[in-house]
Amino acid sequence: MTATKKQREPAKVPLATGRMSVFGLLRIARRNVLETIPELATWQTMVSGKIFKRWHMVMDPGGLRRILKERPEAYPKSEAVKNLFKPVIGNSLFVAEGKHWQWQRRAAAPAFAARNLKELAPVMSGSAARMVERLQSAVGNVADLHLLAVAATFEVINSVCFSGEDSMELETVQDAFEKFIEDAGRVSLLDVASVPAWVPRPGRLYNSYFHRRELKQITDPAIEMRRSIGPRTPPDLLDLLAEGEDPQTKRRMNNDELRDNLITFILAGHETTALSLAWSLYLLAFDPSWQRQVRVEAQSVLNGRIATAEDVSKLVLTRQVIEEALRLYPPSAMLARTARERDTVGGRQVLPGDTLFIPIYALHRNHCFWSDPDRFNPGRFADRSSIDKFAFLPFGGGMRICIGASFALMEAVIILSSVVSKYEFALLPGQEPEPVMILTLRPKGGVRLKVEAA
Ligand code: HEM
Repeated sequence: MTATKKQREPAKVPLATGRMSVFGLLRIARRNVLETIPELATWQTMVSGKIFKRWHMVMDPGGLRRILKERPEAYPKSEAVKNLFKPVIGNSLFVAEGKHWQWQRRAAAPAFAARNLKELAPVMSGSAARMVERLQSAVGNVADLHLLAVAATFEVINSVCFSGEDSMELETVQDAFEKFIEDAGRVSLLDVASVPAWVPRPGRLYNSYFHRRELKQITDPAIEMRRSIGPRTPPDLLDLLAEGEDPQTKRRMNNDELRDNLITFILAGHETTALSLAWSLYLLAFDPSWQRQVRVEAQSVLNGRIATAEDVSKLVLTRQVIEEALRLYPPSAMLARTARERDTVGGRQVLPGDTLFIPIYALHRNHCFWSDPDRFNPGRFADRSSIDKFAFLPFGGGMRICIGASFALMEAVIILSSVVSKYEFALLPGQEPEPVMILTLRPKGGVRLKVEAA
């Protein structure tokens, strides 16, 4: 690759180009699961193989539509994924299947409806204001924008779940989640590589029990207290979830179900949203011309204010940058399903028991659907009708699409525009973050940027 070409492309994962033994695969997976994806997956629409079990990587939008939207009941989440999460989040929305999933989704849906999101937005603006304040002390210096983004999104999810007054120890929660994410990432390598379930997973039982106990100690008293004092005005996520009723079965969540779903939202929600912000800031530092355009837009819409829900629809370029960051660095970079029935996907025969990987990272950089896929070009999102819905899946697709997608996008637009309207960010020579998947796609080494007042 020439120097100029390199300069035009932001950080990327070196995908696999040759054949790999199982042990080679495990060794590489320990470093970065994404490096086990064959580069071929960015040129072809299906890649298949066998390691203990038959597997297929599906990048074909028609095939993805079939798995996620048309026949989701034939492609449940893989047992490996469920085994990984169940000890910590129970049988909550993220892992449940069939009827138990359906009623929970219907009961939780109103909490994430546009009307209620607007009620939750002031919390996002508050957190954006605090991030702006924190950055003030970094002016003229280098700051890790990934760490600052995690602090901001954690504050949001913590306040919208518990309204911040149920004496939550932020550090304890953060610590428990961080430990879980690290342990889960390490252990799940065996799962991602389809090593059979009978191969022992070191530490899983003890650690999962430990994390769950710690998280329960935090969430249970908050739920008990809320049940006794009743909902607040405006209601927070815990109230909305507690009040939520499945219109078909009239079922509401009991305390255990509430707790497991709250833990799910915190786990699924804050780290992923922080990553979309951190990668967006990295990309804006990588491309100063886009940074200028986004700042001009944010300054003209906000006029020195912090963004609110009402501003979001006007912050068009900010949103395009976030979508491009979600394309290049999808926080959930790899999904997996297990086939229940014989079927044809993307022209390939699928047998019951086959693993279907959805390598979102490779799908988003596939040359069949994206022009110059490794380049940072937020303008490609200006015309959404030109993008196949199933070629862009940062939030998954079909009935199991992320319930928090609108919440996350609103939060990311509010925080990014507020911060970029006030500060300039520059890359430090030789300090490019390395995209590494540890359960989520994180910037190894952080996103260390020079901060100046705008
Ligand atoms: C940029 C931020 C986010 C990204 C990239 C993201 C990504 C995803 C993806 C890819 C899925 C589908 C997984 C699959 O089909 O296997 C998912 C599901 C889910 N997400 Fe998100 N998510 C984000 C933010 C959030 C937020 C803020 C919340 C909650 C507050 C949330 C809660 C959930 C839940 C509960 C599910 C399971 C839904 C179901 O199966 O019915 N996520 N997310």
